[in-house]
Formats: sequence, C-alpha cells, structure tokens
Amino acid sequence: MIGIVDSSIGGLTIAREAEQLLPEHSLLYLGDIARLPYDRQDPATIVKYSIENTQFLVDNGAKIIIIGCNSTASIATETIRQTFDIPVFEIIHPTVQKAVKVSHHERIGIIGTRATISSNIYSNAVKNSRPECKVFQKACPLLVPLVDEGWIAKKETKMILKKYLYGLKNQQPDTLILACTHYPMLKQLIQSRIGKKVTLIDSSIEVVKHVKRYLKNAPELLPAENFSQVKHRYVVTGLTETTEYVASQILKRPIQLQLA
Ligand code: DGL
Repeated sequence: MIGIVDSSIGGLTIAREAEQLLPEHSLLYLGDIARLPYDRQDPATIVKYSIENTQFLVDNGAKIIIIGCNSTASIATETIRQTFDIPVFEIIHPTVQKAVKVSHHERIGIIGTRATISSNIYSNAVKNSRPECKVFQKACPLLVPLVDEGWIAKKETKMILKKYLYGLKNQQPDTLILACTHYPMLKQLIQSRIGKKVTLIDSSIEVVKHVKRYLKNAPELLPAENFSQVKHRYVVTGLTETTEYVASQILKRPIQLQLA
C-alpha cells in the first residue's frame, strides 16, 4: 500500500495520477486539513506535523510514502526519511530532472508556496543539475486557498494569477515548474497567462512516474493482492463545506472522505 502524506487536498493530484499509473497498488491518503495551511507554519511545526501524519500512514499499513506536498517536502523530507525505515519519495528532484531535460533555452520559472520558494530547494536543485540555467521564482500564497475553496475558474482567480505571473512572464521562461500540488488544478489558467510556448512541469505527475520506475526494480514492494483487492482510502483530519466537492473535482469522480 502506498501512503500519501499531505497538508490539505493538493496531494490528491498525486493520488489521481497514482490511481492511473499504479492501478495495482492500494492508496492510503492523509490530508491534514485541520492544520492547514502549512505555508504559514514555522519549519519545526511542519516537521512535527509531517512525522505525526506519516506515522498514521505507516500504522495503517503503508509500505512506501509519497510526500504529497511541496511545502512539506522542502522542509521535512530528511527527518521523515530518518524516522521511518521505508522508502520515502519527495516531489522536488523528479520534477527538477524533468524541467532541466526539457528546457531549450535554460530559462526556468518556478512557482510555489512561500515555504517552498523561500527554502530555495527547487532553484538550488536546478542549479546543481544544470548550472547554466537561469531561474526565476515567484511565491504565490493565495493560490492554495483559492483551489481549496473551489474557485478554479473565477475571474478573481484569473486576476490574482495575472498579478503573480506578470513579472515572471517578462523574464521569458521557456519552462515553468508548478512546485505546488494544488497548481495542476489551475494548469489551463496558468498556461494561458504565461503563454502557450512555455512548457509546464507538473510535480504531481513527475513524482508518480518516478515511483513507478522505482517499483519496477523493487519486487518486494509489489502488492500481493490481486486487482479486486485494491482499495483506496482518503482520510482527512478535518472537513469544510467545500472539501469533498473540491476533492471530487480533483479526482474527477465522486469521493467520500473519511475523518481520521
Ligand atoms: N499543496 C501544497 C504544496 O504542494 C501546499 C499546501 C500548504 O502549504 O498547505 O506545497
């Protein structure tokens, strides 16, 4: 069983990809909605919450962990790896590998939460793997609450995106990393605002492809169950009026969230 640890519901974009690309694996997802947004927490608190949440997944049978939130992955990956003796996957490095591979003009934009952008983890990883790349970053803290509220196609969301992407667009990136698992829900708006020639790199897709490659060489982690026994559980620490609606928009099917 694959555990996905998340701060709210953005990590469901990873679950959606995992349901498609790893259909033989059961998923256990935990979204820590009661304590969001992690973006506003100090790093020690993000680490503490992440350990508690990962413990829940491990206690309930997860054999590998995907960190479904870039803010968490930026800050807590090493501690999670040191605490749990199972494979732990983060989103950042597979995403950067893809971005540096597809960038033609070595101009890479990165958008994410304040926690992710101020950690500089993406820009450092880009520089390490392709030092000649120019990197342009922009924190977009209002986008997560807009997605959590289901304001995906509202004109206010378009206006905010326009403001966030204005300076970045002027830098003429050829590739833009969506360094937040909420942003795939805004992909079309982001693409039309930044320009259709810019290649968007979706961190949620890249991490699942990476896990799939890893699992090919890890037969001990292949599920013993057959397809009819595959079960997905979506658990949250809190529910708002909109959570289940937005979750079903992300997963593109009706979903019942369970309270932890
Ligand atoms: N979806 C999370 C991410 O990828 C952001 C949510 C949060 O910061 O609470 O960074």
